[in-house]
Amino acid sequence: MIINMSPNFRTMASSSGDMIRMRFLNPSDLDVVRRLCQEWFPVRYPDAWYETIVNNHNQRFCSLVATINDEIVALLVTEIRSYQNLNYEDFGFLAKHFEHYDNIQVAYILTLGVVKRLRRRGIATLLVKNLIQNLQTISTLKNDCKAIYLHVLTTNMYAIRFYEKLQFQRYKLLPLYYSINDCSYDGYSYVYYLNDGHPSSWWLPLINPKYHLLIVRNSLRSITIQTYYQCDHILQSFSLLSSLITRWPLKFLRKIFDTILCRHRCSLFKLHDDHYHYINNHYYDEQKNHLYVC
Ligand SMILES: CC(C)(COP(=O)(O)OP(=O)(O)OC[C@H]1O[C@@H](n2cnc3c(N)ncnc32)[C@H](O)[C@@H]1OP(=O)(O)O)[C@@H](O)C(=O)NCCC(=O)NCCS
Repeated sequence: MIINMSPNFRTMASSSGDMIRMRFLNPSDLDVVRRLCQEWFPVRYPDAWYETIVNNHNQRFCSLVATINDEIVALLVTEIRSYQNLNYEDFGFLAKHFEHYDNIQVAYILTLGVVKRLRRRGIATLLVKNLIQNLQTISTLKNDCKAIYLHVLTTNMYAIRFYEKLQFQRYKLLPLYYSINDCSYDGYSYVYYLNDGHPSSWWLPLINPKYHLLIVRNSLRSITIQTYYQCDHILQSFSLLSSLITRWPLKFLRKIFDTILCRHRCSLFKLHDDHYHYINNHYYDEQKNHLYVC
């Protein structure tokens, strides 16, 4: 329920009845924001990052805090990015025709967190709804900003439930996207469309011959791998000697199939590990010889 509204702050009641004041982030919030982010997230951000978001000199950020009695209890940091300059793994969640305009923007949620003792009271919902409202009304954004997107660890079920409840749509699986304490973890990207932003029609890929080729190629590869594992399984029940004699040609055959089927995939960029490539919406792990389909 909105009680009071001004261009820079609003006072609202959360679902539990707490009186919450919302305002934009400012430079005096630096220390609190750093402490809260260290509490909430396993990822460590450099000091320069905190300074950039609180100072917001180039007006790229749209960052909101929720306060109760002047104490910051939640934070939502969003960066406005040009759609055309997004990283390869993110680009593509808007319909093709948006790619022809260089003014199209999207909002990227860098950080969202609520202090532990006040979770499940609707505070994060208020912040995100407030952001959506801002993006739909701020004159410089309401025509050009077509979506909000974010990344989340695949294991962060609370956050995933939260975004899905707010109608964010899962866009992609990003294997090994996060690097935390030298270990890699999978992530998802999620998108919320607004201001007439929308994804490509579901049927569009069906008239694209490349899409059919991809399906045939992947089906062939998956059949080969399945057959290989089935045969391998059967052979394990034979004696060691006979299995050595028969398994080797099988492995060799699979290698040939893999080479043929993967040869046309050019590696477009490397993710965190050198052996790891993102190719045509698929991730190919050269070392494990594993293909992840997104
Ligand atoms: C994710 C987070 C921001 C949610 O904040 P919140 O204020 O508790 O969320 P809300 O109260 O607005 O929740 C709205 C809905 O999200 C879902 N949800 C949120 N937290 C949940 C939880 N712990 N378990 C299950 N569902 C949850 C529920 O559907 C909830 O609606 P309901 O309470 O009516 O069932 C908060 O848990 C948090 O700060 N987590 C740590 C930081 C983090 O992981 N941030 C996300 C990074 S991408």
